[in-house]
Amino acid sequence: MSQEHPTALLQIDGKSIELPVLTGTDGQKAVDVSKLYDEHKIVTYDPSLGSTSVCQSAITYVDGDNGILRYRGIPIEQFDRPSPNFIEVAWLLIFGALPTQDERDEFRARMTKHQLLHESLREQFGNVPPGSPPMAILSAMFSQLACYYEKFLPLGDEELFVEAATRIISKARTIAAYAYRRSQGLPFMYPDPALRFCGNFLHLMFSLPYKQYIIGQEIEDAMNLVLILHADHEQNCSTSTVRIVGSAQANLFASCASGVSALWGPLHGGANVEVMKMLEAIYNGGMTPEDCLKAAKDKQNPFKLFGFGHRIYKNYDPRAKILQTAAEKVFSQQKTEDPLLDIARKLEELALKDPYFVDRKLYPNVDFYSGILLRAIGIPTNMFTVIFALGRLPGWIAQWKEQHDNLNQRICRPRQLYMGEMEANYVPIEDRE
Ligand code: ACO
Repeated sequence: MSQEHPTALLQIDGKSIELPVLTGTDGQKAVDVSKLYDEHKIVTYDPSLGSTSVCQSAITYVDGDNGILRYRGIPIEQFDRPSPNFIEVAWLLIFGALPTQDERDEFRARMTKHQLLHESLREQFGNVPPGSPPMAILSAMFSQLACYYEKFLPLGDEELFVEAATRIISKARTIAAYAYRRSQGLPFMYPDPALRFCGNFLHLMFSLPYKQYIIGQEIEDAMNLVLILHADHEQNCSTSTVRIVGSAQANLFASCASGVSALWGPLHGGANVEVMKMLEAIYNGGMTPEDCLKAAKDKQNPFKLFGFGHRIYKNYDPRAKILQTAAEKVFSQQKTEDPLLDIARKLEELALKDPYFVDRKLYPNVDFYSGILLRAIGIPTNMFTVIFALGRLPGWIAQWKEQHDNLNQRICRPRQLYMGEMEANYVPIEDRE
């Protein structure tokens, strides 16, 4: 085995198979099994893909054991300051480097240009039943963008990609706000080109035709921070979904719509809503923090301690720390308090000294404190996962682009281990027992 080209030996059925070993820039070893089936008719078995690298990526680095998250090499903590905004981070993720002043201004101008929805798309919000889940609306509207921007669907042209990417990021903010307005039966506001991305989103959410929403700087900064912290997280469930759909050369709008659907699940982005339900149940006296932990530890009970645990982090999720501090800052700036923050702190304290959670290395994840900060911003609970999607969009787009820029990319098509009957006969219905 040479140092330059390390290999691994697989011994199976008396045969020795030499497999190449790849090494990531962080030193992570990966046994390359990509030719294993074609050359030896053997598959690997990893049902939830916990030990499988599905791509090579240079976008986001996560070291779950040490609680490290970096976008294009930049530690997440460095984005926790007023100056970086979501648009810059979107550019960083999608195009690989922080934008120059000109690039940022041009990107911002494109966002402003595309913030309106086609009137007939806007009218469609009136056709969904009031109270519809905003994630359902978001996914459907993303798909429908393909109907309005068919000319940007062809793959392989950078300018068409930029047009499609800018449109979906800019319009997602308008769509997200309209989903909320529809759920409340409120009139739709038009975007204000004088406002920046987050300020405009808050205006679309909260202004009334007769009363402009006054955007506090601390609230706009907090919104920016929430979106930035959610912007990418390497090959999570929704991002992998976007890549799988994209691998079939599905267009960007369709691929991102599938990401929204995956994110909706309570084990993924939907967990922030479950956290709030849990904290509210404790606040309303329905259960105590101790009851919560007991239920979460009971293997006969499907209840989970939502906002705790992560497939990758076996340490504190760095985003959770930043969000907790940001929530405390907003409360102190607004001179308000939220009893749910105290309940969350209490739950965390109990869990972090409970052997069940300690032994399994279950720590607060991004969803544990994000809801409390979003509440402080004034975002209603049914919009939490939508905000997550809004933040994650640049990550999905960056991963989709990275995949399409790789000309050797093939369609993703996993294999299975078949465990059913090998052959059976069709029985006419009258002869069935
Ligand atoms: N509450 C109670 N037990 C838990 C929890 C939890 N929140 N999370 C994991 N466990 C238990 C598992 O049941 C398992 O127990 P076992 O060893 O006795 O079988 C053990 O801890 C290890 O679980 P993992 O294998 O680490 O969990 P997995 O990687 O399959 O799932 C997941 C990760 C889905 C995030 C899980 O921790 C969970 O359900 N958490 C609650 C939901 C949540 O907060 N999701 C948001 C995740 S972050 C995001 O997607 C944005």
